[in-house]
Amino acid sequence: MLWVGTSWKMNKTLAEASDYATRLAAALSDGAPTGVQPFIIPPATALTTVRAILGSDSPVELGIQNAHWADAGAWTGEISVPQAADAGATLVEIGHSERREFFAETDRTVNLKVKASLTHGLRPLLCCGEPGEVFDAGGSVDHIMAQVAAGLDGVDDVSRVLIAYEPIWAIGEHGREARPEDIEGVFAALDAEYGDKVECILYGGSVNQGNAEETLQVKGVNGLFVGRSAWQVDGYLELLRIAAAQA
Ligand code: PGA
Repeated sequence: MLWVGTSWKMNKTLAEASDYATRLAAALSDGAPTGVQPFIIPPATALTTVRAILGSDSPVELGIQNAHWADAGAWTGEISVPQAADAGATLVEIGHSERREFFAETDRTVNLKVKASLTHGLRPLLCCGEPGEVFDAGGSVDHIMAQVAAGLDGVDDVSRVLIAYEPIWAIGEHGREARPEDIEGVFAALDAEYGDKVECILYGGSVNQGNAEETLQVKGVNGLFVGRSAWQVDGYLELLRIAAAQA
């Protein structure tokens, strides 16, 4: 199964989220394309709205962009995994490089959040990525394997885990599109270690309608995690079509 999804990051009003969800639900009214598992990760404010519009039998999985490891308590500004589930999430995005860089996320908190997600029956989407200097120095494989091992430390059953490899140098408007040869080594290593154990290993970072097909052809890539190119529903639907042709 190819998992193809988008995080909207800190974008979209409720009206914009509703419009996207309405058009997505209509386009997928006969189900998701064969072999493709769509997922959407809206801002937390839009989760219940998007869930209600998609409906409980939608083929689209919903995620939250971050969740705390504790079930409840005095953690001002945070959202727990049970609260995310209550709002309709079935996935928890954990350890995106923007959270690690700007919000003090560490391998230790990532690991706690992975465990909390699994405890409550949600799928962790564990993000990993190396800075440009590490890539330039040829250290990508070691960096990523250490990051993923730390995120999964003490997790015996990783079968519900998704791993998203998102090199920091490839993400966002200042990122550069990865060529297949830039990411083959990391995917070979991730595939060898986790390919037959986890639910899916995805690629993210400047994925677009022009490079999605060749990215999916890299050995070990079983999904796409997309930002900007999927923030308009037509762009996302096109990516689902491209993935379906590869599935
Ligand atoms: P981008 O974002 O597709 O806009 O580069 C990817 C991500 O941060 O997951």
